[in-house]
Amino acid sequence: MAPLVALSGFMGSGKSSVGRLAARELGWRFVDLDQEIETRAGRSIPAIFAEEGEAGFRRIEEEILAQVVASIPGDEGVVLALGGGTVTTPRAVEMLRSRGRIVYLEVPVREAWARVESSDRPLARSRKHFETLARERRSVYLRTADVVVDTAGLTAAQVAERVARVAEEGT
Ligand code: S3P
Repeated sequence: MAPLVALSGFMGSGKSSVGRLAARELGWRFVDLDQEIETRAGRSIPAIFAEEGEAGFRRIEEEILAQVVASIPGDEGVVLALGGGTVTTPRAVEMLRSRGRIVYLEVPVREAWARVESSDRPLARSRKHFETLARERRSVYLRTADVVVDTAGLTAAQVAERVARVAEEGT
């Protein structure tokens, strides 16, 4: 079966930039779930949150994740950057773990906030709420991960190297 490494972690943990670099290093394909959602749903993530709320977004996210996972050919290695909340949906976790491994990128919340504070992420509008959510999410990330990578003080390239090593060990 195709090797799949799914990167999980809070907003601003570097899932997309690390994933892109790790995929390049491995010669695997890179897929960004947030981007797939926007393309396949034909709407931006802020628009989906505004129109359907977070619960509606989670349903769409789960559905598109299922499509993405099902469309990976049997012989192709894929690094998949998840959204920050993907692993809060139990069916999403089941799907991912049946096809590969989940690697959690742990990041200090201060670093994460600095990366996303000026973005349009619906769940990063207030620093206080962001920090509370980060605390709540941590146990979910730890519980659902096969591997934890501590990214504190590392560059995206250094984290990508670790992810690539983890990916190679699993093939
Ligand atoms: C979310 C994280 C976002 C995006 C959506 C919800 C979350 O992805 O999926 O805004 O619940 O943490 P990133 O982690 O890529 O920013």
